[in-house]
Amino acid sequence: MDFQFSAGVIVYAYFDAERKFLFLKDHHGNAGPPKGHIDKGESAHDAALRETLEESGLGVNPDAYYRDDVHYIYTENGEKVNKSVAYFIAEVKSDVKVRISPEHVGYEWLSLKEFPDGLPYKNSSIRNAIREIYFRADSYIDKIEKMDALNKEYSMLPKKQRSWSLSKNFVPGEGPLNAKVAIIGQAPGRNEDEQRRPFVGAAGKLLDHLIRKAGLKREKVFITSIVQFFPPENRLPTQEEANLCMPFLKRQLEIVKPKYIILLGNFAAQNIDGMGEIMKNHGKLVKSKEYGCYLYATLHPAAAVRIKKHTPIIEEDFAKLKEILKSE
Ligand code: URA
Repeated sequence: MDFQFSAGVIVYAYFDAERKFLFLKDHHGNAGPPKGHIDKGESAHDAALRETLEESGLGVNPDAYYRDDVHYIYTENGEKVNKSVAYFIAEVKSDVKVRISPEHVGYEWLSLKEFPDGLPYKNSSIRNAIREIYFRADSYIDKIEKMDALNKEYSMLPKKQRSWSLSKNFVPGEGPLNAKVAIIGQAPGRNEDEQRRPFVGAAGKLLDHLIRKAGLKREKVFITSIVQFFPPENRLPTQEEANLCMPFLKRQLEIVKPKYIILLGNFAAQNIDGMGEIMKNHGKLVKSKEYGCYLYATLHPAAAVRIKKHTPIIEEDFAKLKEILKSE
């Protein structure tokens, strides 16, 4: 069997506040996103950008986390072909100039309500497969918009409170908005406050190692903290601060809908109902009705950086997590 690898970009723009997607119509009687073969030594991401430029004339900047890998088998000249296509998403301005390549006969900007009217499809199975790809992208874009609006509201919290003693720099969560695993720490540290990114300091380096130990990749995990503003002098956030921030975290998790929430340290565990004392409950998988997923607590990597005897415990918890995720 022949194996083929391709990559493409689902391009969208807003026309009078209505989200529309770019469909390129080809000579074979189909329509879909710009896509094509990944060259030898080329990444899927780079191939997707190159193909989009070649086929539509658009230089795009895809979302940092979205990637939809689609696999299917088809027959070409009597030979079975096992095909994998990686799709990214990118927003462009509605007034961009689309310049189609000679392998296309036209293009259309369509909302998914209009799909597939006005588009050619050689057969219904191709149409249905293309439909699924656009609909998954559309749901993800809804998540991006919800998270952006929520984070905007959260970032204004310092202005709305009469007394505020945390940093005013908001450190939003990072990672795919459809991640299977979310990791939640205590609060950003000084490095995180400066870079406005979670877990980029010493604890972050250890966390990266632990994520790999659990068989995961950092870019596939949603990472955030209970309190998303730096507490000066790296102090523990107060319970009042945690209570102020928790409703935002809950709403963020409602958007991501992870299957597993990993809680790092006592502060994170104690702010999530039912998790209690970390030294008693770490390394145990707990089903949560409230969050609609599994909770799994372990020590905070910052504690393991400071207290060496914590290192084997946290390492073991992440190794155990790998087994849990594998046995799904
Ligand atoms: N510790 C946390 O709990 N969160 C961060 O973002 C960084 C360090």
